[in-house]
Amino acid sequence: MPQQFDVVVIGGGPGGYAAALHGALAGLKIAVVEKDKVGGTCLHRGCIPAKEFLETASVYRTVIGAGEFGITATTNGERPALDFETSQARKQKVVNQLWKGLQGLMKKRGITTFSGIGTLGAGRMVIIDDGTELAGDHVILASGSVPRTIPGFDVDGSIVMTSDEVLTLDRLPESAAVIGGGAIGCEFASMLADLGTKVTILEALPKLLPGCDTDVVDVVARSFKKRGIGVNTGVAVHGHKPNEGGSGTTVLFGDGEELAVEAVVISVGRRPLSSNLGLEGTAVEVDERGFVKVDEYMRTGEPGVFAVGDLVATPALAHVGFAEGVLVIDQILGDDVVPVDYAKVPWCIYCHPEVAFAGYSEQAARDAGFEVVTKKDPYGGNGRALIIGDAEGLVKVIAEKGPDGRAGRILGVHMVGPWVTEQLGQGYLSVNWEATVADVAHFIQPHPTLSETFGETVLALTGRGLHVG
Ligand code: NAI
Repeated sequence: MPQQFDVVVIGGGPGGYAAALHGALAGLKIAVVEKDKVGGTCLHRGCIPAKEFLETASVYRTVIGAGEFGITATTNGERPALDFETSQARKQKVVNQLWKGLQGLMKKRGITTFSGIGTLGAGRMVIIDDGTELAGDHVILASGSVPRTIPGFDVDGSIVMTSDEVLTLDRLPESAAVIGGGAIGCEFASMLADLGTKVTILEALPKLLPGCDTDVVDVVARSFKKRGIGVNTGVAVHGHKPNEGGSGTTVLFGDGEELAVEAVVISVGRRPLSSNLGLEGTAVEVDERGFVKVDEYMRTGEPGVFAVGDLVATPALAHVGFAEGVLVIDQILGDDVVPVDYAKVPWCIYCHPEVAFAGYSEQAARDAGFEVVTKKDPYGGNGRALIIGDAEGLVKVIAEKGPDGRAGRILGVHMVGPWVTEQLGQGYLSVNWEATVADVAHFIQPHPTLSETFGETVLALTGRGLHVG
């Protein structure tokens, strides 16, 4: 006899566990089927470990720059010593603590977790590979994604790696080619370069960080160049020739160009993990790239079966997975729900300098037919930025041009610079509340803070900027 649940969730990553925690809190009887560890890519192979290593890089930069504050941390201008094994252990400690907390919370909420690979059967039955059968009034597919690779580059974990392997290294390569200059590529390039690896990015498109505002990308590209990161954009990668003896390889790219490196990091996107869900023969449809097809309420073609997170073709961000999981549970509970507005979700990229944005970039706003007014304010004039010694970057606000030619509704807020991932909140709210520049300019920013630069940019759009004209 199958065990009966209100909701059976396949996959315990951010999409799946958010649904489970939210549903259990509301009194639903929930099962989660997980083949590895709850927490998923985000906790074990993605956001958390990657940001932990980026923090290691930040500490390293701070130590290098300590002399400017009159603090001698290293002698004779030498680089500080890095014991990456210790960094790795610290990262794992953070991950394990969060993992333990999540398991405890799920248990406390009465969620039943099953270990194994779950597949979808007829009539919302979920069959686990050990033969256990679960019957759900509702099923949520949340099996996530895995790194994409490229033909000719077999991932071996020492010469050719994806994000999965980089995050488990106990020593860093002396040199690396990072293929793909998107979010993952830029985060890894930044981290590796700060910690002493000679990094070259090979990106197929004309610019790094496709989708980000050009003014923001230019700041990142300038910073990378200054820190010795090679950036080759608009280049195709053709393959590689591993050195004899098993250490290092030569990457072939562009117009007959070659790059000898110790390691290759492939960061060319992620692909959905839909192939092991047993969807053949069900009414759940999968598109040509493997994404499960859903409507704006995350409903698949099979009644009572939903899909969320990286498995569907929405932004591959943990917090989007959270929102989608909660959206599904609220529908199951019979609440009125508002679909996620994907054009306005917050994006945060944790390379140095950090990038954070919500809403239209200038180009995307123009492409969508808006007439716009924009303003940029650099962090160079911000007191707090100078105090912390990190004033590289800017805030750019894109507003809709009103009939009088003046800036009206805020369409996009784009930031690059110190701690902008922690500063995006105001910009995110402004965009999603459809606030005008006048609405936001009414509010006060505390002084001295980094967030004054956002306030000042908005003030300038009203024509009353204190420092920016
Ligand atoms: P991505 O789609 O952001 O970037 C991949 C990059 O690789 C693109 O710039 C693309 O033009 C380039 N590319 C593709 N094929 C190539 C080739 N053969 N040669 C050279 N360049 C090639 O994917 P990424 O960075 O791997 O991240 C995967 C997902 O994870 C993304 O959807 C991203 O949203 C998410 N993510 C978000 C983070 C954040 O918000 N902080 C951090 C890490 C990942």
